Amino acid sequence: MLCLSYLTKTWGRCPRSLIGGIKSMKNKELLNTVNALLAGDKGLLAMDESTSTINKRFEEVGIPQTVEYHRAYRELIVTTPGLGKCISGAILYDETIYQATKAGVLFVDKLKQTGIIPGIKVDEGTTGLAGFPGEKITVGLDGLSQRLAKYYQLGARFAKWRAVIAINAVMPSRGCIEANMHALARYAAMCQKAGIVPIVEPEVLMDGSHSIKKCFDVTQKVHHVLFDQLFAQNVNLHAVILKPNMILPGLSCPRQADIATVAEATVTCLLQSVPAAVPGVAFLSGGQSPELATAHLNAMHVKYKGKLPWALTFSFARAIQQPAMELWKGNDENVKVAQEMLYHRASLDNAARRGQYTPDMEKKFD
Ligand code: G3H
Repeated sequence: MLCLSYLTKTWGRCPRSLIGGIKSMKNKELLNTVNALLAGDKGLLAMDESTSTINKRFEEVGIPQTVEYHRAYRELIVTTPGLGKCISGAILYDETIYQATKAGVLFVDKLKQTGIIPGIKVDEGTTGLAGFPGEKITVGLDGLSQRLAKYYQLGARFAKWRAVIAINAVMPSRGCIEANMHALARYAAMCQKAGIVPIVEPEVLMDGSHSIKKCFDVTQKVHHVLFDQLFAQNVNLHAVILKPNMILPGLSCPRQADIATVAEATVTCLLQSVPAAVPGVAFLSGGQSPELATAHLNAMHVKYKGKLPWALTFSFARAIQQPAMELWKGNDENVKVAQEMLYHRASLDNAARRGQYTPDMEKKFD
């Protein structure tokens, strides 16, 4: 390790063969992480809500919005019995990566003890995109290399960056898609250099009254620009996980789609836009109910099992956490039942990855 850091500092003076050796060690580490994240029927848990997002979620269910309640809630999650049987990686937020259980065990260590790889959200949120009223650009590239080095030291082995693309009569613009996909690709390249697997998340939002076809077309265009940019930035596609939205009609579209239609549209869109070199696709839930998000993932596996070039998995936040948060309500006496619910939802998503989920499995918590 000492030797490696010395060599990295003196990169310019290294013989070529040595540089190649170090690079391939990094690549090996990245591929090991990817394989572990995608293994079996496990999936990812996004527990990386920013301060404003977690406060909004807490407010909705009447939980006080303080750092101590954030910590207590994240402790509930990482100490859920059996979580490591369902979850391969957990995405943390900057505040959370430094926090510990009441007994003083860092969350990162608690996760590692249960076989869960710690990850970290590294984007710094969104701001208005100059020149494109109403559209957003994700920020956080400045100083990112230094932050990645620090997060690696703290134990993070994968990262997440979320770009948001809104749909309405005039959006998204080409400018918005290109600026966001360029930032995603620059982030991904920096992650790989730091030995951290990048999750690239180009989220096409569900808000609006657009049709499922519109979501399909926009998502496909976004993926084409994304992979063009990843290629341009020399990102190794074998060490990337794509975190996309499913293909759905807008939340207020009068014509909603059935489960089979969503599953088919989603996989068709991915087949037309995601290179086979990408090892895994881990869906966000995006505001779908937990039951629907699970049913959609399940339907994709039932129909396409063994026929796809990439693993299809989940990286849900709300679709795993929301019911547990509602049971907890910030009260210590509810921790056990909330943890049981969290485990229940994650295990249903495992069943969906196997194509073995049925709605009657929901009954345990009726
Ligand atoms: O960036 C978004 C989260 O990682 C996924 O959240 O499953 O609630 O959409 P969600």
